[in-house]
Amino acid sequence: MSDVLISPSILAADFARLGEEVRAVDAAGADMIHVDVMDGHFVPNISIGPIVIEKLRPYTAKPFDVHLMISPVDAYLEAFAMAGADIITAHPEAGPHFHRTLQVIRKLGKKTGAALNPSTPADVLDPVLEELDLILVMSVNPGFGGQKFIDSQLRKIEAIRQKLDRANLKTILEVDGGIVPANAQAVIDAGATALVAGSAIFGKGADRYAAEIAALRGR
Ligand code: DX5
Ligand code: ZN
Repeated sequence: MSDVLISPSILAADFARLGEEVRAVDAAGADMIHVDVMDGHFVPNISIGPIVIEKLRPYTAKPFDVHLMISPVDAYLEAFAMAGADIITAHPEAGPHFHRTLQVIRKLGKKTGAALNPSTPADVLDPVLEELDLILVMSVNPGFGGQKFIDSQLRKIEAIRQKLDRANLKTILEVDGGIVPANAQAVIDAGATALVAGSAIFGKGADRYAAEIAALRGR
């Protein structure tokens, strides 16, 4: 049993009924709402942009945990902030000026996040560790829901946990991709404090959302 934060990824929700889906996972016990933004360039898929986030904003008071899989990113940060994002997470792999990206997010009054692809080492975070409110470890290659968890990412989660503890930082350590009840505890044991789950929550119908969220918490 744990008090890990659960951030359902609406990428796996019914896009024709997104508002109701957000309301349903909120009522089912979600701590945040994970919004996957894909541009067909940084990742080989296209999802949604700020207009959709703005329309979803009235459906929940929970934080919008916005995962930007786009390149370039800086030109769009203000639009996501205005649309109602609370945490804005970008990929350092998406451009050469990641520190500037974080500065802009902070200036917009939002929480900052860094997302790392599976092949990116944890050490790229060292120069910006203190500028981060959230670190997102991708446990699948970004672009699609419903993929299998990549086990080697557990070691990266442990390495980042050590960095944060050594620096006495309370940064959220979130893991995204292929999370199911069967591997959630291993991810938490490695040091994660937040889990993203798309297909594991939305896959079985709205009357199961609360049970699936509880199962990820080990309840
Ligand atoms: C993948 C996204 C994930 C994805 C997770 O690019 O960042 O958030 O929706 O979906 P599942 O939980 O189905 O792996
Ligand atoms: Zn995501």
